[in-house]
Amino acid sequence: MHFGRVEKFRVEEFKSLRRKIKSLSCLSSKLFNPKLVNVFYMILRLEHIGIAVKSLEDSNAHFEKLLGMAPYKEEEVASEHVKTSFLQTGEAKIELLEATHPDSAIAKYLEKKPEGLHHIAFEVDDIYAEMERLRKEGFQLLNAEPKRGADNKLVCFVHPKSANGVLLELCQTIV
Ligand code: CO
Repeated sequence: MHFGRVEKFRVEEFKSLRRKIKSLSCLSSKLFNPKLVNVFYMILRLEHIGIAVKSLEDSNAHFEKLLGMAPYKEEEVASEHVKTSFLQTGEAKIELLEATHPDSAIAKYLEKKPEGLHHIAFEVDDIYAEMERLRKEGFQLLNAEPKRGADNKLVCFVHPKSANGVLLELCQTIV
């Protein structure tokens, strides 16, 4: 199954179907094959692409020219020492990230590399289950527990070594 290209309503339908199956499997675990349930823990879609920038202000203006729209949100994540902005591009978003402190992961990234692609983020609807699944599959997770990220999300990062050199983020909307 591949859900990367499905429309939003298809994702919502799928989530609702999965919730039903999960609740059914709790009620009648003897009738339900747990392997089948595990199929329903998975990555839903590409949620955003994170780009490390030196100046959020300059990059916001630049991406506004590119996409013909301003960021719909700016947010500081104090715990991560970053300022972020988000631009909607169809189903997926662009997240621009500027460091607010030398200890920030973005500051460290920009010490070694020029501005550019920092991470890609996949939406999941059960981050704990997905972290467990990926751990079992041998992926190296950078967080033992999900943490609070920008844009009302719980997030967990996956080491670039586990994904051909690309830092991955799993994110789940907090409801
Ligand atoms: Co992100």
